[in-house]
Amino acid sequence: MKVKKIILVGSGAVGNSFLYSAINRGIAQEYGIIDVNEKVAFGNVLDMEDAIATSIHPFNIFHAKYSDCKDADIVVITAGRPQLPGETRIDMVEGNSKIMKTIATEVKKSGFKGITVIASNPVDVLTYVYQKVTGFEKNRVVGSGTSLDSARFVRALSQRLDVAPQSIQAYVLGEHGDSSISVFSSATVGGKLLSDFEKAGKIDSKEYPQIHESVWRKAYEIIDRKGATFYGIGSALANICENILINSKRVMMVGAYLDGHYKNNGLYTGVPAIIGCNGIESIIEVSLSEAEQKQFDISCKLLSEVIIKANDAIK
Ligand code: 2OP
Repeated sequence: MKVKKIILVGSGAVGNSFLYSAINRGIAQEYGIIDVNEKVAFGNVLDMEDAIATSIHPFNIFHAKYSDCKDADIVVITAGRPQLPGETRIDMVEGNSKIMKTIATEVKKSGFKGITVIASNPVDVLTYVYQKVTGFEKNRVVGSGTSLDSARFVRALSQRLDVAPQSIQAYVLGEHGDSSISVFSSATVGGKLLSDFEKAGKIDSKEYPQIHESVWRKAYEIIDRKGATFYGIGSALANICENILINSKRVMMVGAYLDGHYKNNGLYTGVPAIIGCNGIESIIEVSLSEAEQKQFDISCKLLSEVIIKANDAIK
């Protein structure tokens, strides 16, 4: 029987947090680390292999080369320069698009046939760049999209309403970044719409702008305090990979390629989708209010403009 194998490209805060989460969830049995800084990559292999003897789930970990992607089930890409305090994700597009082109070329050359999961920022645009350079099927290239933003949204609603996050379905759509949309109109708690909670006096729609701001500002709050975000995205990536590997068909937030979905096309961005062994099996279109659709269109337009910059950078 073939063991499940994941190759990580980018052994920084996000990549290592993902690996540590994946190891503890036992989602694969073999992990390889690639980083342009070979010393750091090998250091992280040595550090994480120290967890083998005390892990509940058996695994092996090694310092990988791109040729090791050939028979991997998933390649997770988190490489790129880190976001500086005050900087937006989009500010990093030129440099990180060039890095992504190099990685995409190497992964393609390896003969890799699995699913790619990308978290490097600006993630919507870099997922597009990777797919374009590799020519891989669009559904087999998955962005982390607004998985983290949605987890932050669910957490905020959970705290506000004192209900477990597992009982809340609430999505942040669009750019993983400042133009994202927290979709209040179709958020449900135990199957009931938020508007029902408004009617019962449990929450007031006047609070929504502040909740949304706390969600999109969260990354800045963390980066200001500790220089980077680690665990939220690490856990979100492990969750996406696990659901791919077990072919769960769960509806999850990811970065998916829009081909007319939500009235937009030609770009990757955050939407709910059914996730399985083929990556994105299909996109779920939740109903949006008029204002939410307008904001989604604005977010897509902005991303399309950034894609032009990325295309120039990788010419
Ligand atoms: C985050 O939202 C910085 O994109 C990263 O945590």
